[in-house]
Amino acid sequence: MVSATTPVWSDETLDRLKKTADPLADDCMVALIADGDIAEANAVLARIDTETDWPDDTPAPLQAYLDATAQLPPGTDLARIASAQHVFSTFGLQFGVSLLCRSLPVLYAGKIGGSQVLAATGKLTDHFARRASETLRFILNAAEPGGLAPGGQGLLTIRKVRLMHAAVRHYAKSSTHWPDGCWPQDWGEPINQEELVGTMLAFSLEAVEGLRELGVELGASVQEDQLYLWKTIGLVLGIVPEAMPADITAARQIWAALERRNFGASDAGHLLTQSHIAFLQQNLPDIAHGLVPDLMATLLGRRNAQYLGLRNTGWWAWLVDTLKMIFRIKTRLAGSSHTAQGFMVVYGDALMDGLQRYWAGPNPGRPFRIPDRLKT
Ligand code: HEM
Repeated sequence: MVSATTPVWSDETLDRLKKTADPLADDCMVALIADGDIAEANAVLARIDTETDWPDDTPAPLQAYLDATAQLPPGTDLARIASAQHVFSTFGLQFGVSLLCRSLPVLYAGKIGGSQVLAATGKLTDHFARRASETLRFILNAAEPGGLAPGGQGLLTIRKVRLMHAAVRHYAKSSTHWPDGCWPQDWGEPINQEELVGTMLAFSLEAVEGLRELGVELGASVQEDQLYLWKTIGLVLGIVPEAMPADITAARQIWAALERRNFGASDAGHLLTQSHIAFLQQNLPDIAHGLVPDLMATLLGRRNAQYLGLRNTGWWAWLVDTLKMIFRIKTRLAGSSHTAQGFMVVYGDALMDGLQRYWAGPNPGRPFRIPDRLKT
């Protein structure tokens, strides 16, 4: 258990979180596989984000999981969630750029555990477009107004992803893929609480930092609301409440500790970065391909960019500056009147939706299925 007196960012607490997974989802997954084999577990995953009426004979561990993830935790401040979702929609395009060019790639700098699991599932590297566009879809579903209401698409998607994580955990631990033929103990649990908190902060704190780099400065309370939204998503996704930062200041301290403890260069990180760049370049004209790594390096900052093998050539600085200027004008527009704000929300939503569909492509590939074994 995490102690109330020790800060989350202390090594003592983070070491404990590294060894903690998600018993509710893990027990459910183990029971599904034991009771009904992998095909049954895959069948559940295939319908868990669309089905709301489960039959009376639903296995008890699955029913317990469905009940626990059916709605937001009691006491959630719904007005605050709605306000954060509104801001997300208003700056849809800017958040999209920040998430794709800072939040997602910064996670590849985690040099042990996380990147290896992502690379080993093979999904990210073999089916990168589908995997990345599904992550964007997850964010859009959760951040769109109403997405976290009972039965809302965001809530249903979070419930599915939490079970997918449990499936990956199960197979990571039973695979022989790893350096010594088994999951290394010093990596902690696969997809552990420390990594989950780090990912939650990448989508909130780091996304807001990316926005600032793009010329969009959000006010202090608006930043706190974004963190609150993501903490709420994180709770439904299985992050333990004790691991949550109280506010942005605490979030910064945790992020700094995670960078110190876990960040560095790795082969898996480089592989994932290259796949990510290729994914973003696929629908751009050849002449603009250089923009992608430059924009990523600008948003990531020198040290994290170096871990990923990225160097800012400076050739695209003019376009990045132009983007910032356009985004600044839009920020002023968003703050100017209710009509302009309403326009920005509709426009931001449509752009993000378009971005997700555009990158998913006409043939986004097979949906996630629990593998028989992790790819070697
Ligand atoms: C706030 C935390 C997180 C969020 C919101 C999140 C989101 C997602 C989403 C949306 C998917 C589904 C993608 C698909 O349909 O293929 C997914 C799958 C996956 N996630 Fe996470 N994730 C989080 C944390 C993590 C962490 C910490 C790790 C690893 C250390 C991880 C590893 C994976 C893997 C291996 C898969 C499935 C296989 C794949 O498609 O490659 N996730 N996650």
